[in-house]
Amino acid sequence: MAQEVSNGNHNSSTKPPPTPSPLRFSKFFQSNLRILVTGGAGFIGSHLVDKLMENEKNEVIVVDNYFTGSKDNLKKWIGHPRFELIRHDVTEPLLVEVDQIYHLACPASPIFYKYNPVKTIKTNVIGTLNMLGLAKRVGARILLTSTSEVYGDPLEHPQTENYWGNVNPIGVRSCYDEGKRVAETLMFDYHRQHGIEIRIARIFNTYGPRMNIDDGRVVSNFIAQAIRGESLTVQLPGTQTRSFCYVSDMVDGLIRLMEGEHTGPINIGNPGEFTMLELAEAVKELINPEVEIAKVENTPDDPRQRKPDISRAKELLGWEPKIKLRDGLPLMEEDFRQRLGIPRKN
Ligand SMILES: NC(=O)c1ccc[n+]([C@@H]2O[C@H](COP(=O)([O-])OP(=O)(O)OC[C@H]3O[C@@H](n4cnc5c(N)ncnc54)[C@H](O)[C@@H]3O)[C@@H](O)[C@H]2O)c1
Repeated sequence: MAQEVSNGNHNSSTKPPPTPSPLRFSKFFQSNLRILVTGGAGFIGSHLVDKLMENEKNEVIVVDNYFTGSKDNLKKWIGHPRFELIRHDVTEPLLVEVDQIYHLACPASPIFYKYNPVKTIKTNVIGTLNMLGLAKRVGARILLTSTSEVYGDPLEHPQTENYWGNVNPIGVRSCYDEGKRVAETLMFDYHRQHGIEIRIARIFNTYGPRMNIDDGRVVSNFIAQAIRGESLTVQLPGTQTRSFCYVSDMVDGLIRLMEGEHTGPINIGNPGEFTMLELAEAVKELINPEVEIAKVENTPDDPRQRKPDISRAKELLGWEPKIKLRDGLPLMEEDFRQRLGIPRKN
């Protein structure tokens, strides 16, 4: 039991949540939920915004510093009366009246998070502290998008939420992995000490339209390479595994977690497991059968295997992914072709 509590399986806070602003209960606000999405101009964030905006009772505020995100991802909402976009860095305090905070701001691809590791860890630690401070001040519920990287190079397979991970604290990926681990700690400390309503999603590899091209993530790399007619570069040994969740499934899981009664952490990902060579074969077959597959050197601390155990998400959120990898990959192709300016040959 003690172990369950220390893993956050229960709402273990003894404090009542902070009182929301009285404005929340005024007639004007009753119909609308104000939702802040940090990192909302990024890949997952912008799809989340699309889904939240479908509900006419939601007002959505995005804050983003555009480090890896782009206004382009949100262009259909700019000017909409229920939508607001603010250029802001989460390492600085933010004062806005909101009911829910989806805290996504953080570069997710190794190329970007390793580019300025000090900034990455500041984003994870100071950025999360600032968002928790905001949640405390206005009585908002806050969801953190943590990551399967908190499991490091896992010694348990598949990974359940009770696994504490095998992470190198001083490696080149630590700014991200350890940054997210501290962010999770902060979430639970604010929950236990101040009664903040928290939700933690541990996201596994996600793919779909609007991923940054050439950002070092394996699905976007392979698809861009296949469209350009370049060799698909599989990092050695090629037998390392990952599981890939299509972005619409991910967004559905995040919203269910936010709306549900469980703090998490909850794994959200697709348990279908593929080796990097299998993924390359699938991209080759579906997008460009003429390209070669080439093996290249790997980067340090690359985990050998990753596969979520999603029993908790199934049981507590009634969630499981619907889109299979072979159906999701072609859905990305058109978006990548448009952005690369390379139409399909007939
Ligand atoms: N995509 C995945 O496979 C994956 C896997 C695990 C976890 N996650 C998590 O999900 C979240 C979103 O990931 P994504 O794939 O959409 O990445 P992304 O890089 O496309 O989006 C991150 C967004 O955060 C913004 N941002 C970064 N630092 C910021 C700062 N200091 N202040 C304000 N904005 C900032 C970026 O400009 C970008 O718009 C991240 O927290 C990431 O750690 C993603």
